[in-house]
Amino acid sequence: MDKLRVGIIGCGMISDIYFKNFTGPFSNLIEVVSCANRSKEKADLKAKQYHVKSQTVEEMMNDSSIACIVNLTPPEAHYSLNKEALLKGKWVYTEKPLAVKSEEGKELYKIAKEKGLYLGSAPDTFLGAGIQTVKSLIQKNEIGKIIGIQANMLSVGPEFFHPNPLFFYKEGGGPILDMGPYYLAALVCLAGPIKEVSSFASSPFPDRTILKTGETFRSEVDTYFASLLRFANGVIGQLTVSWDFRFPSWESKLPLIEILGSQGQIVVPDPNTFGGKVLLRHGREEFKEVPLIEGFSIDSRGLGLEEAYRAFQNKKGPYISNEFTLHVFEVLSGIVQSSKEKKVVEIEDSCPVLDLFDPRF
Ligand SMILES: NC(=O)c1ccc[n+]([C@@H]2O[C@H](COP(=O)([O-])OP(=O)(O)OC[C@H]3O[C@@H](n4cnc5c(N)ncnc54)[C@H](O)[C@@H]3O)[C@@H](O)[C@H]2O)c1
Repeated sequence: MDKLRVGIIGCGMISDIYFKNFTGPFSNLIEVVSCANRSKEKADLKAKQYHVKSQTVEEMMNDSSIACIVNLTPPEAHYSLNKEALLKGKWVYTEKPLAVKSEEGKELYKIAKEKGLYLGSAPDTFLGAGIQTVKSLIQKNEIGKIIGIQANMLSVGPEFFHPNPLFFYKEGGGPILDMGPYYLAALVCLAGPIKEVSSFASSPFPDRTILKTGETFRSEVDTYFASLLRFANGVIGQLTVSWDFRFPSWESKLPLIEILGSQGQIVVPDPNTFGGKVLLRHGREEFKEVPLIEGFSIDSRGLGLEEAYRAFQNKKGPYISNEFTLHVFEVLSGIVQSSKEKKVVEIEDSCPVLDLFDPRF
């Protein structure tokens, strides 16, 4: 099978795991041809480290030997680079979020559809053994009918660990567009597409300090969102995301995700990881840890693209389809819109209900 020839744009903090996985475990199917970055020195550094070419973005976009762009830039650059790559006839796999505005996401989807190109977005953590074990329990009817879902991501903000966190606090960032994708992709995988959302948001601490440098800055986005989700099958979910913890030592006692069924409960592992601990309770029994099913349980970022290419070669649909990518982004955009306009937002673009991911396919 020919390899998918990839160019990586954005050589920052998250890029190493993609370089490692594409040049390591996924190198049977993926070949990183080159990398590009706004500042050339960073691209040169990664190019040397991972034995690939360093190119400018322009050179990469015009390189007809590159079939797919992996976009690892900050959110504000996603739409324009994703669009340019699609218009050049290349596949796109982008870090989340797909774009900043709802209409940008729809436009990208439309271009990809017209040109018959793949448009996929991170996260792909829900393809991992943790979330997929939960999916298998639901499919085996272990908790009966799903009644409701609670999801909570409450923590300090990225200024506590990221050297350059300003983009997290601009339009396209905030906890809902940055962390929300992990939770919503997992929830859509587990319970199906979402029909309506409603959300309140606030900004309790707009003035923030970068831990590493002491530099202060002002957030341009809300940092606390409490949202309601109505799934197409009638299940109701709640999602709270916040970057308003004041100290890293604070720990939320709320479950990251808990699913309530008619005959049991599941405590779902962290959707920002591939593995984790799954707890299951039937009826009056105590919670018991369930062994993970076969699959990816270490950081396998890039798996979504590798699977999409494998599926394409085998004339099957990818697990993270163009429709799934757009749907998750539409739900995120709908939450932001609801919080701003104080109304329930209907999600126009749906996606098929996902089956269990087959890691051996
Ligand atoms: N850092 C993390 O822990 C993490 C985890 C998961 C996902 N992500 C996502 O990955 C993306 C990148 O995050 P990061 O932490 O690596 O950011 P980063 O700031 O460390 O790196 C981004 C890189 O992109 C480059 N860049 C910016 N605009 C560009 C443009 N127009 N053309 C070419 N290069 C450009 C920057 O120079 C920088 O080197 C974001 O979407 C983020 O949400 C980050």
